[in-house]
Amino acid sequence: MERTPAPERLTATMRRHPFGVDVALTVAFVLITVVLPGPAYRSPAEAVLFGLLISVPLAWRRKAPIPAAAAMVVVGLLQLVALPDLLLADVAVLPMIYSLAAYAPRWAAQTGLGLGLFGAVLAGLRYYSYGAGDALLATVTTGGIAVVAAWALGNLRRARVQRLAALEERARLLELERDQEMRLAAQTERARIARELHDVVAHSLSVVIAQADGGLYAGRTDPDKATGALEQIAATGRQALTDMRSLLGVLREDGRQEYAPQPDVAAIKELVEDVRTSGLDVDLIEEGLPQPMPAGPQLAAYRIVQESLTNVLKHAGPAGRAWVRLQWRDDALELSVLDDGRGAAAVLSDGQGQGLRGMVERAALHGGRLTAGPRHGGGFGVHAALPYRTAAR
Ligand SMILES: Nc1ncnc2c1ncn2[C@@H]1O[C@H](COP(=O)(O)OP(=O)(O)OP(=O)(O)O)[C@@H](O)[C@H]1O
Ligand SMILES: [Mg+2]
Repeated sequence: MERTPAPERLTATMRRHPFGVDVALTVAFVLITVVLPGPAYRSPAEAVLFGLLISVPLAWRRKAPIPAAAAMVVVGLLQLVALPDLLLADVAVLPMIYSLAAYAPRWAAQTGLGLGLFGAVLAGLRYYSYGAGDALLATVTTGGIAVVAAWALGNLRRARVQRLAALEERARLLELERDQEMRLAAQTERARIARELHDVVAHSLSVVIAQADGGLYAGRTDPDKATGALEQIAATGRQALTDMRSLLGVLREDGRQEYAPQPDVAAIKELVEDVRTSGLDVDLIEEGLPQPMPAGPQLAAYRIVQESLTNVLKHAGPAGRAWVRLQWRDDALELSVLDDGRGAAAVLSDGQGQGLRGMVERAALHGGRLTAGPRHGGGFGVHAALPYRTAAR
């Protein structure tokens, strides 16, 4: 693991302990402005005492700027009355005004500026009103400029802090949004996997079951037919394995080849053939000229027909016939899968169906729609329309 460079570690520590930093700065400030020059004053003991009193509030300049400033104001007023000298430590007023502007509410910052200017005038009158008026004016002007400069710097600091806070908030919101998007994407992806697995597995198993039933029946009378059924079972099983493998392959990819080796509308012909060999009497009717269509809706069309035929095998009853109709319209491919089985009796019988739900989702995903239900006069019908081009959403 790489070690963080020492200066960065120091900055991070300082950021985590602002009060500690302020205490350390105050101690340094006291050493330089109170302890060292202390003996030079006319009344050293009082100078040190007032110097300390006016400097120590600096330690709270960020933690509690308003009480710290108030304490400083009180000490400053007492000093004006009690001390014959202006102290070096009185410079502490400037960082205090800076801190008020940077860290305290607006009103406190304004009050700090006003009191600072007022203090400069008072100090000038108290300590420099002897001799010429020039000294007084110079002192008050210098003090005033220093006060305004400290206040302005504090304001800059406040703006920076606010900008940083806004940026942090934005980053937090962006992260939240990204998390949500990822969760949503994962959910969509899970639903997609569930649909694919369902359609591939349920279809192959239904075909295998139908063929096995037929083979079982034929076994007693017609061994050739039974062998044919077994061959069909083996072929269906192999196809299912291939489908599963390509599906799992897609899941392992980074998602770009989402529909890469998947079946398309043209493959519906073979699908219908396969189902016919498993014993269901099914016809394919195609109207219109095939149109170019993206891989996504093509796969959806294939899966919708596949699941509808699987449902016919499972639910329509033994004597059923079925029709698959593909109509290439102006802007959409319309699909119908109809049968004349027992349709109406069985609608949503177990309530566990994944198939219909998956079909509706598939159609919606590509900007189309799908309806399914018993037909007037018996049987079951699935109707879907898949636009050639998905409208931009
Ligand atoms: N061709 C059909 N004939 C009669 N009933 C049907 C036909 N297709 C669907 N149904 C009815 O609609 C219900 C829902 O179908 P769906 O495909 O969603 O579920 P399923 O086939 O029962 O189970 P799954 O597809 O999850 O394996 C079925 O349980 C069945 O009652
Ligand atoms: Mg089904």
